[in-house]
Amino acid sequence: MSKIAIITGASSGIGAATAIALAERGVDSILTFNNHEDRVLDVVAAVKERGAKAIPLRLDVSVSASFLTFRDEVIALLVQEWKATAFDYLVNNAGFLQMASFEDTTVELFESYQRVLLKGPFFLTQALLPVLSDGGAIVNVTSNSVYQSGMGPGGSAYASMKGGLTTLTRYMAMEFGGRGIRVNAVAPGATRTRIADDAYDKYPQAIQRIVDNTALGRLGEANDVGATIAAVLSDDFRWVTGQSIESSGGAKLAITN
Ligand SMILES: NC(=O)c1ccc[n+]([C@@H]2O[C@H](COP(=O)([O-])OP(=O)(O)OC[C@H]3O[C@@H](n4cnc5c(N)ncnc54)[C@H](OP(=O)(O)O)[C@@H]3O)[C@@H](O)[C@H]2O)c1
Repeated sequence: MSKIAIITGASSGIGAATAIALAERGVDSILTFNNHEDRVLDVVAAVKERGAKAIPLRLDVSVSASFLTFRDEVIALLVQEWKATAFDYLVNNAGFLQMASFEDTTVELFESYQRVLLKGPFFLTQALLPVLSDGGAIVNVTSNSVYQSGMGPGGSAYASMKGGLTTLTRYMAMEFGGRGIRVNAVAPGATRTRIADDAYDKYPQAIQRIVDNTALGRLGEANDVGATIAAVLSDDFRWVTGQSIESSGGAKLAITN
């Protein structure tokens, strides 16, 4: 029987690319979206084209009070669509970025980051844990902004939450190890997606600077990171847990003259 993944924020970018990379490995998925059902339906179609199955489900990761209802919806879907009682992989990916200097960061923005990027993955994982198979795997999508290689002005609150999620990843790995569940963080570098209101399309001049500083000499694409996440979830990584793996093509590792 096919493995089943739940991917949050799968209507766009890295989450969508992860669904497709997993489909290429024969993994089915439940794909969550928040505002963009139209986009998630395109991802469902792309997964089907690759011979796997995907079911969309709405989830606002900022509303932790909804997570037990979400779990009930997942349990019902597993029975209805797969005749299963558990799923195998969880990808905590949903997120957003709104650059703001330290001085300009409002309490509202800070709390919004906290709800979506840290509290959401914490309590969503807690809610879903009883339905995650023993021997399963979790990837928390963090960011290389937690390392010097990805630091930049305007990211202090965002990166603080991603740093919290990186630490949480190690604690999850420790506490879930008894059930054989692996937990790793994948930390993307600059990746062309819709993040930050389509910033990579709007500010092409910023891309050249990133390319010049990247060892592999180009901007990351969503499918580069999706492939990393699918690999880390797979059995090839069966002896790796509690780690933070940067997927950036070597950010700040370029030889510059
Ligand atoms: N792109 C980069 O350069 C980069 C670098 C480092 C880390 N990351 C991380 O990678 C992850 C994916 O980002 P992306 O670049 O793929 O961005 P994206 O293209 O903007 O996609 C973001 C996804 O998250 C969902 N989402 C946003 N807020 C949500 C909420 N409150 N509840 C549920 N879903 C929500 C969106 O759903 P709807 O559109 O349906 O609302 C969408 O599916 C994020 O955690 C981000 O921080 C990205």
